[in-house]
Amino acid sequence: MSQQYTVAIAGATGAVGIEMIRTLEQRKFPVKKLRLLASERSIGKKLKFHGADVVVEELTENSFKGIELALFSAGAERSRTFAPAAVSAGAVVVDNSSAFRMDDTVPLVVPEVNPQEVAKHRGIIANPNCSTIIALVPLWPLHKAAKITRLVAATYQAVSGTGAKAIDELEGQVRAWAAGQPMTKGVYPHQIAFNVLPQVGPADASGYTQEEKKLLHETRKIFGDGHIRVSATCVRVPVFRSHSEALFIETEKKLTAAEAKAILAKAPGVILKDDVNANQYPMPIEASGHGEVIVGRLREDSSCDKGLALWVAGDQLLKGAALNAVQIAEILYGIKR
Ligand SMILES: NC(=O)c1ccc[n+]([C@@H]2O[C@H](COP(=O)([O-])OP(=O)(O)OC[C@H]3O[C@@H](n4cnc5c(N)ncnc54)[C@H](OP(=O)(O)O)[C@@H]3O)[C@@H](O)[C@H]2O)c1
Repeated sequence: MSQQYTVAIAGATGAVGIEMIRTLEQRKFPVKKLRLLASERSIGKKLKFHGADVVVEELTENSFKGIELALFSAGAERSRTFAPAAVSAGAVVVDNSSAFRMDDTVPLVVPEVNPQEVAKHRGIIANPNCSTIIALVPLWPLHKAAKITRLVAATYQAVSGTGAKAIDELEGQVRAWAAGQPMTKGVYPHQIAFNVLPQVGPADASGYTQEEKKLLHETRKIFGDGHIRVSATCVRVPVFRSHSEALFIETEKKLTAAEAKAILAKAPGVILKDDVNANQYPMPIEASGHGEVIVGRLREDSSCDKGLALWVAGDQLLKGAALNAVQIAEILYGIKR
């Protein structure tokens, strides 16, 4: 029998954690035993794994005895507190939070881009920010072909990117509107239903938000290119699931739209869907539930000589989080698919 692994999911009850469980099932990841961890609020809750109930336990420093793989999706604070305990207990941590991404000793991995980094881990491997992953899967083959020197991005980020409570907030506001009732808010500072919020996370003195800065710093680390210039505007939109992004790149070598499409048509993890006159382009509603990033509206940028404009959509709970993490674990253990 091929090797099986004892796996823990920290944050198993959250938006990403639930997708982690489903992704392990769907990819038939060789799980010997699964331990589901969350806050004390969820103790005793039962979640299904391959049809059987698994009882949720509280995440503590003692949760990781005998665990070989710990998938973390319980927020950066919990990762900082508990990931070192998991590593001390002998587990390899794949972390979805921002806690360790910019740590020089921690690989930051998108399997389609820099899988070779996995082997350099010292106990923790970081999953990049969801918008970064969705942008870089299609941009990497273009970077290899023509060297991207500058990226300007505008994101259209779904509420599930904020977690389970934000999904409830959008649904509650839509229901209240339909019933003619006043809307309540708690997660976002403004109504999200029928609105867009041009702020994802706190901003610093530069005026950029943390989410926007992640696109800059993580792109440089993952591409291994400290010079690429990135400017992003991250926007929350009233979409339940899957992020979309308008990406404008400048390249060192000119790529025609036809050349770029030919590259993307063969790129791993990418689906090219690009026929605007037939109304065919990436949309979050179609990206949802799929592991690939869909790319379309690809055209030469009319405002610069060596530039391309494209529109992408990807499921940020899957490729932006759970799937990317499980793919990292598959590379770690040499599991071929
Ligand atoms: N959502 C996305 O699209 C996405 C994408 C990429 C990365 N991420 C990252 O993934 C992480 C989880 O995000 P999410 O969207 O899944 O959030 P979420 O839906 O709010 O879920 C948070 C999870 O963490 C657990 N948790 C919260 N406080 C805890 C505590 N004190 N002790 C133990 N467990 C605790 C929650 O357990 P209870 O249910 O018991 O409260 C829940 O399982 C975050 O770091 C986020 O930045 C999210």
